[in-house]
Amino acid sequence: MSLIIEAPAKINLLLNVKGQRSDGYHELESVMHQINLVDRIHIKKDDRITVKSNSSQIPTGPDNLAYQAAELILHNYGRGEGAAIYIEKNIPVGAGLAGGSTDAAAVLKALNILYNYNVVGEELAKLAAQIGSDVPFCLEGHPELSINDPEIISREGKRSVVGATCLAQGRGELLSPWAHRIIPYMVLVKPEFQLSTAEVYKNFQQNLMLRPPDLAAFIRAWQLYDIIEIAQSCENVLETVSTVLNPEILQIKEELKAMGAIKAVMSGSGPAVFGIFTCLDPAHRAWQELKQNYAETYLVSSYGGGVYYNGN
Ligand code: C5P
Repeated sequence: MSLIIEAPAKINLLLNVKGQRSDGYHELESVMHQINLVDRIHIKKDDRITVKSNSSQIPTGPDNLAYQAAELILHNYGRGEGAAIYIEKNIPVGAGLAGGSTDAAAVLKALNILYNYNVVGEELAKLAAQIGSDVPFCLEGHPELSINDPEIISREGKRSVVGATCLAQGRGELLSPWAHRIIPYMVLVKPEFQLSTAEVYKNFQQNLMLRPPDLAAFIRAWQLYDIIEIAQSCENVLETVSTVLNPEILQIKEELKAMGAIKAVMSGSGPAVFGIFTCLDPAHRAWQELKQNYAETYLVSSYGGGVYYNGN
């Protein structure tokens, strides 16, 4: 009996840091959005926890967030059981796309189903928050699930694939789900280098921010489903740190804009940058051109809709 669950990447359409907290984390205000660049987690019951992957870039031991997720849910709800986990990695690593967090969220969902733990709502979200700040958001949405156990299929029913968008506050774990909107054409570029989330946050200085992102304008644009306004309201204050750590991020932003993106913004702590386009043709051209220089370039949409072309 095994299960395959998609684990979609997230982008931060807007990210504002409101201050530093006494627990060392930063107080956030962020609009998180799932896109159709996905890892696939293959998981089956076993008597111990193992993680394997097609990628040599991720750890397979206890440093892996998916491993930690399995350990946490099995320790809290299991009776000595384990899980064999295989991570089909497509999401760039160390990119600001919540790749590790979404794998962890998928493992929590999958083990809950496989072992019938019935951990839901707040209880599951609390477990997720123990693994990382982005993991609760990654539990949201309805990912594609395929199961070869007829009993589970009848219990779960058929799920339609729908991505989540949430306003995230606190350290990222306090979520207000928003209405589903599809942003149809985005080009996502991950330069070769990686950035450490902890280092980016550590170097953030509120006083270097010219003006905070306009969340009210973003909310209005989302309500009106006005793609141009949505794109124009995207902003990420962590660019003030990451672009200093590596100015290549600025160059990618400029290239995306020169190729027709309405706006190009870094996701999370970076270094991945996404550009939002109004039509497929210029987005497709930008994808083709940028992947000459950046192997990890993707033409993507919101999760649950639209186009997806990978870096090859
Ligand atoms: O929660 P997570 O383990 O993903 O966070 C990684 C690091 O990023 C934290 O140790 C912290 O340094 C930083 N961080 C932060 N404020 C947040 C989220 C993360 O300072 N809201």
